[in-house]
Amino acid sequence: MSELWDPTSPEIQADPHPWLAKLRRETPIYRYVQRDGNVSWMLTRHADCAAVLRDPDWSAAKFPTAMLEQVAANPSAPFSVVARMLLHMMLLKDGTDHARLRTLVNKAFTPRVIAELRPRVQAIADELLDAAVDRGELDAIDDLGMPLPIIVIADLLGIPLERRADLKRWSDALVTFLDGTIRDGGLVEAAAACVEMREYLDGVFAERRARPRTDLVSRLLQAREVGDRLSDEELFATVVLILAAGHETTTNLIGNGLYALLRHPQELAKLAARPELVGPAIEELLRFEGPVTVTTRRAPGVARELLGEWIQPDDEVAVMLAAANRDPDVWARPDQLDLARGDTRHLSFGFGAHFCLGAALARLEGQIAIGSAVSRFPHMKLADESPDWRPGIVLRGLRTLPIRW
Ligand code: HEM
Repeated sequence: MSELWDPTSPEIQADPHPWLAKLRRETPIYRYVQRDGNVSWMLTRHADCAAVLRDPDWSAAKFPTAMLEQVAANPSAPFSVVARMLLHMMLLKDGTDHARLRTLVNKAFTPRVIAELRPRVQAIADELLDAAVDRGELDAIDDLGMPLPIIVIADLLGIPLERRADLKRWSDALVTFLDGTIRDGGLVEAAAACVEMREYLDGVFAERRARPRTDLVSRLLQAREVGDRLSDEELFATVVLILAAGHETTTNLIGNGLYALLRHPQELAKLAARPELVGPAIEELLRFEGPVTVTTRRAPGVARELLGEWIQPDDEVAVMLAAANRDPDVWARPDQLDLARGDTRHLSFGFGAHFCLGAALARLEGQIAIGSAVSRFPHMKLADESPDWRPGIVLRGLRTLPIRW
């Protein structure tokens, strides 16, 4: 790991932006060797990041597939169950394989389905904030940012709320593992979570096949496209992806967003005085301190030139969204939070074929959670000035965010 970029170092965990700015300025394509010896190239300029994400020749599948196929072929390997599931995920597919899955899932995950969730998301946010008022204290992570998206996803999938703790535990195990912050036993926990999830979800799928409802699982089971439909493996991988991709990311949008507002009381006051700003405010908060630092790795498959460097077939390209989002070639005063910017060019939901499928839902949840917290507590203050960021390479979020009002 290089001295310029070690994402696990405490300085970079606390504030990656000065490091990313230095790389963007001095070495916009930056080569580093990972702990496992693989070569990774980091891209930090907005135009370069967007160009790679837009170009189908930069594959999201080539890098992981060979390794996953090898592991999946050996059922005694602890990771094989996770590898088999990942091989069916749209996030790690290219071209027509990806488009096929995305089209089928889009049939179930329509804008109407999301819009219909609005009153329910508002009711959940109100209930969580009421409970905090009754208790006289609010941790914006534990009491709002973490429960809200998990309740919404459970509702969306038609999974009973009493399984909420399981959903969270399964999703945490997989996300921790996929985020590269593998603790001792992380791999075993992820595999165990995958087996438990499969067992539980197979039961849900069988029940919805017999008695369809209006939830997303029932819609995914019914989704068809010219005679094509999701296989059981694809259905399972899709539900796991929605759970894993839609949970901690949204927690981090709510946590990072409220933290940024608390650090910028003038902007907080602006939003409290003008609640109609919440739409642009969420876009600016996504830009300023987005939940996802880097996309899944892209690979060229064949040796290929990029910004004057030769990228070898097995090298990975890391598209640093957090750096692209503060590129001074795109935004004036990029390190300043300005809720009225009204600019949606940030790359926080990715770009191109893999643009976040849940972006509309994430925006809805972020607007309702942050908007409701600000209107309820317009004079809120940080109860702890030095927050603790979760260790992670892909995701950026706080462990806790205690608030006074
Ligand atoms: C603020 C919250 C969220 C952020 C910042 C976020 C960010 C992202 C990003 C950056 C990608 C692209 C990754 C890549 O290109 O490698 C992505 C993909 C995806 N996201 Fe999200 N996401 C959020 C919430 C959600 C939610 C709520 C859901 C679903 C309920 C969701 C489902 C997905 C799916 C299914 C993909 C894969 C799309 C594909 O491969 O075509 N995300 N997300």
